[in-house]
Amino acid sequence: MQTEKTQPDITKPVPGRITFLDGQNEMPMLEVITPWSSAEIYLHGAHVTHFKKVNDAPLLFMSQCSRFADNQPIRGGIPIIFPWFGMREGLGQHGFARIKRWDLKEFVPQADGSVSIRLRLPDCPEASAFPPFTADCIITVKDTLGLRLEVTNQSQEDALVFENCFHTYFEVGNVTEISISGLEGAEYLDKVANFARARETRREIRIASEVDRIYLDTTAPVEIIDPRLSRRLRIEKAGSASTVVWNPWITKAQQMPDFGNDEYLRMVCVESGNVSANQITLNPGETSVLSVTLSSQPL
Ligand code: BG6
Repeated sequence: MQTEKTQPDITKPVPGRITFLDGQNEMPMLEVITPWSSAEIYLHGAHVTHFKKVNDAPLLFMSQCSRFADNQPIRGGIPIIFPWFGMREGLGQHGFARIKRWDLKEFVPQADGSVSIRLRLPDCPEASAFPPFTADCIITVKDTLGLRLEVTNQSQEDALVFENCFHTYFEVGNVTEISISGLEGAEYLDKVANFARARETRREIRIASEVDRIYLDTTAPVEIIDPRLSRRLRIEKAGSASTVVWNPWITKAQQMPDFGNDEYLRMVCVESGNVSANQITLNPGETSVLSVTLSSQPL
């Protein structure tokens, strides 16, 4: 007869599990399962494409039209923007980190059931335009999703100047019904108005047209209230002076080949990093750390 003792002890956390899989287009992907959540991470771009807490909707939006191909960014999830943000003459938009296959350095299932994965940007021809550096991304999966970008200037004599950003696409029930708070009083560059400078006066930002704003010198956490999905998303950040808010709205959505015409309704990007006037200058030997913790709570 089975005794009580042979039953699994459900009061103890189950260790996190990592599985190596072929993802879309057979691109290598890590599936992470923890007692609280699941996640998917592509080596291409060190890109988190999926995070979902048990009994919650997915946290991250992924376009049904995303490409999964070498030298192409993934549309949705969390692209890592580095070492520059936006257009740079003669070069692609948003840097090269998001289109390189990162090296898996370490994966650590912790005793509490959480999982941490460290990936490193490989050396590549584009990096030779910069002083030598290393860039590591550490992704921690538990009841929250944590990302940390550590950049070290390995040069003995030259400063390393760069921008960085976690370009997070959040899944929302309907973008016209959400409100975004935490940016009141911050100065921003309005990319839709030719980078005009203005100051955010609203406590709660609502979206009813194309939005593309770089908020500068703001370190505050940001919250997205989503009545349709009955949840509050929270973005806590450290080592980040900029927050970018982006929704392409109707015309831009139609122009993007890797984005569905109506998908603008189901997403908003709230991006944490250091861009434009907040770009980072690292002296020889110095390390910068950008980190975010993303969480959701029922309303
Ligand atoms: C945002 C920029 O961060 O990314 C927008 O502010 C840009 O201007 C958007 O359109 C998407 O960029 P991409 O290169 O992924 O299409």
